[in-house]
Amino acid sequence: MFPAAATFACPQPPVSEGPVEIVPGVHWIGAFDPNLRSFDTLMKTANGTSYNAYVVRGSAGVAVIDTVDETCSDAFFARLEAVARYDEISVLVLNHLESDHSGALAELLRRAPQAHVHVSPRGLQILRTLLKDAFGLYRISPVTTGHSVSLGDRSLHFLTTPNVHWPDTQCTWLDQDRIIFTCDLFGSHYCDERLFDDLVGDFRFSFEHYFDRIMRPFRSSVAAALDLIEPLAPAVIAPSHGPILRANPGDYLRHYRRLSSPRFGFGAGTDKTLAILYISAHGATAELAQAIRDGAAEEPGVRVSLFDLDRGELHPFVDLIEEVDGIALGTPTINGDAVRAVWELLAKLVDIETKGKLGAAFGSYGWSGEAVRQVEARLQGLKMRLPEPGLRVKLEPTAADLAEARAFGRRLAAHLTGRAPPREIDLADLAAR
Ligand code: FEO
Repeated sequence: MFPAAATFACPQPPVSEGPVEIVPGVHWIGAFDPNLRSFDTLMKTANGTSYNAYVVRGSAGVAVIDTVDETCSDAFFARLEAVARYDEISVLVLNHLESDHSGALAELLRRAPQAHVHVSPRGLQILRTLLKDAFGLYRISPVTTGHSVSLGDRSLHFLTTPNVHWPDTQCTWLDQDRIIFTCDLFGSHYCDERLFDDLVGDFRFSFEHYFDRIMRPFRSSVAAALDLIEPLAPAVIAPSHGPILRANPGDYLRHYRRLSSPRFGFGAGTDKTLAILYISAHGATAELAQAIRDGAAEEPGVRVSLFDLDRGELHPFVDLIEEVDGIALGTPTINGDAVRAVWELLAKLVDIETKGKLGAAFGSYGWSGEAVRQVEARLQGLKMRLPEPGLRVKLEPTAADLAEARAFGRRLAAHLTGRAPPREIDLADLAAR
């Protein structure tokens, strides 16, 4: 293994470490980065990572699939030069243009300007920005599912799989060898030069942690990608980080399917679920929460649950919100702001998929009552749909306030079941509330 190093620059392995053959004519030409300790500020990488790139040689052409982080360019080019000449490269496939995979791209194009670049339509937009004035110098084609490129006795087929990290992501299928190149999908931030899943150390933690930090916010996109990949029954899954998966690829597919699926349903699974989560300073917001719960529970087909945020831990609430169809979030206004625990919960929701869930806010206030609007703005930022203006009550709720809270709960539940007409509030219209 690699010695500890004092810097965070990618080391330059000796060329003798060379490319790694996956099958004859298909090589790994990536780079190891054992000293990386934080990826994208999103997650810690306790033993580093690798940037995997590949070369596929056919009877009528050579393809390079992805590049590496710029800090690792020398290792990438050394390995590439060991298996192909630059003037042989006819195809360059870019499955994803984040800098850890496109860092050596500009230099590679300078060395192999004849290469025909294949990239997703969304990738094309980013490529234009990355290459700037040089964009027009190269032959670049957008590709989608159904497109392929021939290398003679081998061909590459493209699968459009957006948002399995960024909107530009795609996968590439080498059908003669049944190898799927998945870029970030099925990756691990796990650095081990033995490279194959049947040779490296125990990377299961890294594989799951990677899913949790990178893929979980895109769970439905992962499921859609699996719909395309599973029928191919790949013999090898070649991601852009961590081990190449060749021992039992079906196991990884099934595991990803589980990780990207809802935990379990209720009975026939048709009930909608609404979680009411609140914090109360003096009991008033708690009273509103209970009344909203009572009202929502009157709607058939909706399971309503009530949680005091101050009496629970954050992570289980995040897990809960990932599964439910809607949330109503209650907070008092303290010093003109929602309370800290509510902000902490809202900050954690970037870790899960929230787009399209129902969201609502409510709370009691004493003077200015900004918190409800602040929470609503954040919920909209998380791409939730807000069909009802938030419920704000000054000080202790009156009987009329509690009746309105029950009606608020009934309306939220009806939006979940579809009995209420679809509606979306415009926060701009509520600024004067
Ligand atoms: Fe490995 Fe989204 O970059």
